[in-house]
Amino acid sequence: MDLSFIKETDSEIYDALVGEDTRERDGLELIPSENYVSEAVHEALASSLTNKYAEGYPGKRYYGGQEFTDAVEVLAISRAKKLFGAGYANVQPLSGANANIAMYFALLEPGDTVLGMELSHGGHLTHGHPVTYLTKIFNFVRYGMKDIETGEIDYDEMLRVAKQEKPKIILAGFSAYPRELDYAKFVGIAREVGAVAVMDIAHIAGLIAGGAAKNPFDYGFDVMTTTTHKTLRGPRGGMILTRDNEDIAKKLNKSVFPGLQGGPHMHNIAAKAVAFNEALQPSFKKYASQVVKNAKAMAGVFATHGARMITGGTDNHLILLDVQTSFGISGDEAQALLDRAGITLNKNTIPNDTRKPMDPSGIRFGTPALTTRGFSEDDCIDVVNLMIDVLTKRTDAVIEQTHTKILNLASTHTIPSAFA
Ligand SMILES: Cc1ncc(COP(=O)(O)O)c(C=O)c1O
Repeated sequence: MDLSFIKETDSEIYDALVGEDTRERDGLELIPSENYVSEAVHEALASSLTNKYAEGYPGKRYYGGQEFTDAVEVLAISRAKKLFGAGYANVQPLSGANANIAMYFALLEPGDTVLGMELSHGGHLTHGHPVTYLTKIFNFVRYGMKDIETGEIDYDEMLRVAKQEKPKIILAGFSAYPRELDYAKFVGIAREVGAVAVMDIAHIAGLIAGGAAKNPFDYGFDVMTTTTHKTLRGPRGGMILTRDNEDIAKKLNKSVFPGLQGGPHMHNIAAKAVAFNEALQPSFKKYASQVVKNAKAMAGVFATHGARMITGGTDNHLILLDVQTSFGISGDEAQALLDRAGITLNKNTIPNDTRKPMDPSGIRFGTPALTTRGFSEDDCIDVVNLMIDVLTKRTDAVIEQTHTKILNLASTHTIPSAFA
């Protein structure tokens, strides 16, 4: 991207931007919630729509001058609906967290109960972590895995808790769970207790859009919340989709604006529309299926090595590896060692972790960004072998040699400007 004006006017920010460009170019990004956007998405983000206030919705705005904002938002909505088979879409949430907060306030009264995934089993902070304000307003109860080694959710326990606690929302979705959920069971339990079935698809939105994961709407889910920047490969942002219930869709719209947010970020909505159009192309199907194949290939090498992966492997884009058991080091140590070798991933707690969140027993990593760079299964196997080398040997010499190999892999897999 051309940074010539920033270079002239703000050398400090210019240096940081060039630094980040170089870091992304020379390293391998394995954080499963990150990806690279196309130059077309970058252009939309840098467009003059950042100047425009557009409070309200297409056709019903508070300020004038909306002919182009309306066109952009209408396109973003129609593309989002097409991608996910949704009846309604709200593309204004500024992030995944905002999408979830707006969804709770649309569907609940203060004091109402949400049945969500155990946070240590893969649920997200916004699914009711005690550090969030949400828990001062709503009551969160939990389901979890029956067996951590296979990842099977305890649906009997879920039904028992649902009958006892009478939640208004049954919430599926996760940040660190590598398996598919049995959506029909979720919907069955939600119907039995009169709850709304909501899936937070933030992590797997791209896999669903690309047909590499099941679509919860096909199983009767009522609402889906998501981010647009992970596997979906769009700009940073959020979105809420409704399957077919107009009443719910109206409540969600009111909740996003004016309930939670002010003016929508129209440059970002334009970038979402561009990314959705990219995801509607046939090549995105290939991308999504390759993301899963690559993750399975990585898991296969770790399995052969005898490493302990939570749930024993993966069905999606991410792997949660118990490095404490597998390599005798903490997640923080593993993250730091791999960082030095040019591989970026994140430390992560594992279910029933005995260590602290800032230095847990696991690492979480995945394949969305590598796959965007054109990594094949064999390339991913090479990366895992390099990771295992670093995690087992941990010497300066091995880290240095690995870093050279990573630089080479990065230079032969350039970050694409556009997606064919
Ligand atoms: C499942 C899930 N929901 C919501 C979010 C929040 O998204 P954001 O960081 O855009 O607020 C995340 C982010 O990691 C997530 O994994």
